Amino acid sequence: MTTRCSRAARSTASDSPDRYRARNGQLLESAPYSERDVRGPVELESGEGPTEVWMKRAGRVTRYCLDQHPFDVVGWDGTVYPCALSVHDFEPRAGRFHVPPPTHQVLQAPNLVICNFVPRKIDWDPEAVALPYHHSNLDSDEVMYYAGGNYSARRGIQEGSITLHVGGVPHGPQPGALEASREAPRETDELAVMIDTFRPLHRTTTARQVLDSRYPYSWHRESPR
Ligand SMILES: [Fe+2]
Repeated sequence: MTTRCSRAARSTASDSPDRYRARNGQLLESAPYSERDVRGPVELESGEGPTEVWMKRAGRVTRYCLDQHPFDVVGWDGTVYPCALSVHDFEPRAGRFHVPPPTHQVLQAPNLVICNFVPRKIDWDPEAVALPYHHSNLDSDEVMYYAGGNYSARRGIQEGSITLHVGGVPHGPQPGALEASREAPRETDELAVMIDTFRPLHRTTTARQVLDSRYPYSWHRESPR
């Protein structure tokens, strides 16, 4: 995952949530990751001769044609730079009872938040229902990318799946999940990334082509896995 980490770029780029930061801007010890987990570029892309640079600002893209590659420099200065934060460096959050998604937040950006769901213990109280509750996000669309883990107990998805749950449409565990969860270990090996957008997402032509039209029916009790 890459992001721009400049404080000056906060109006347009993703950044750590405000509640993870001290007044001086440093990540708090209670945050699920630290500055040590953020990696800068090891080496810059390089090239020679005329280079196209596309710059997006205020929703418009401008194409520049430069005589030389912009990274053909002897040094770099500034406050906006690419960096990476691995999902594997995200410390999981767990609790005796179900921990709601905002607890797993990793980044915020204008009109969206990003959450990491990583392998962890879950809901270990004997009285706990070890499942997320049914919900309908009235204020956001919800995109999930299932990057790893065993999803055989859940219908309609597999490793590599991307799902879109449109804001306002109720969703949650499928029929039979509650019964199955009673005997299941109170831990999960899931690795998934969720993006909640506060403006509606519109599917592109390409997205429509790869859409699994059977997914909504995976909640039907009679549906195959
Ligand atoms: Fe959801």
